[in-house]
Amino acid sequence: MRITTPENDIQKVLFTQEQINARVKEMGAALAEEYRGKQPLMVCILKGASVFYTDLCRAMDCGVFMDFIAVSSYGVSSKSTGVVRIIKDLDSNITGRHVVIVEDIIDSGLTLQYLKELFASRKPASMKTVCLLDKPCHGGGIGADAVGFDIPDEFVVGYGLDYAGHYRNLPYIGVLKREVYE
Ligand code: PRP
Repeated sequence: MRITTPENDIQKVLFTQEQINARVKEMGAALAEEYRGKQPLMVCILKGASVFYTDLCRAMDCGVFMDFIAVSSYGVSSKSTGVVRIIKDLDSNITGRHVVIVEDIIDSGLTLQYLKELFASRKPASMKTVCLLDKPCHGGGIGADAVGFDIPDEFVVGYGLDYAGHYRNLPYIGVLKREVYE
């Protein structure tokens, strides 16, 4: 692992701050129309989705509730282990409620699949999955109901996404150079 500065470590910018803002506003407006009057429970999957989640919720001009679940599937490795660990569960009871699960990225799709099954067992009134970034081939897992951007199969960081805890606060989404994580 050779982490230096974003200027050195990022190979290219995939989405600028302006492109992300425009897309997130569109997604928030669509969700607000769909859920107006339903008081949806917006569920943030920590930590990667945190930046997208707060922008998305603020782009919804309807009443929402907010809750957070912390899971981990990767540890410090760049590859999914397929094992999802719940570090902090929701505070809310979701039975009979309209739940919107907010993810930052779908890689293998295993995290989302695990959470959908877990939440379905708690009997919500409805459930929708929203993800900012989607990679082309899911390794055995599932896709989301709504996607912000389709992306190539590259290691991306920024706007909440990390490598070993670094780069989450970059305002843009960039591709990490291979030499940083290989
Ligand atoms: C990342 C990301 C997703 C998941 C996607 O989380 O935020 O939750 O991996 O991968 P998958 O589709 O292969 O399951 P990570 O476990 O790295 O934790 P973090 O959100 O705290 O960075």
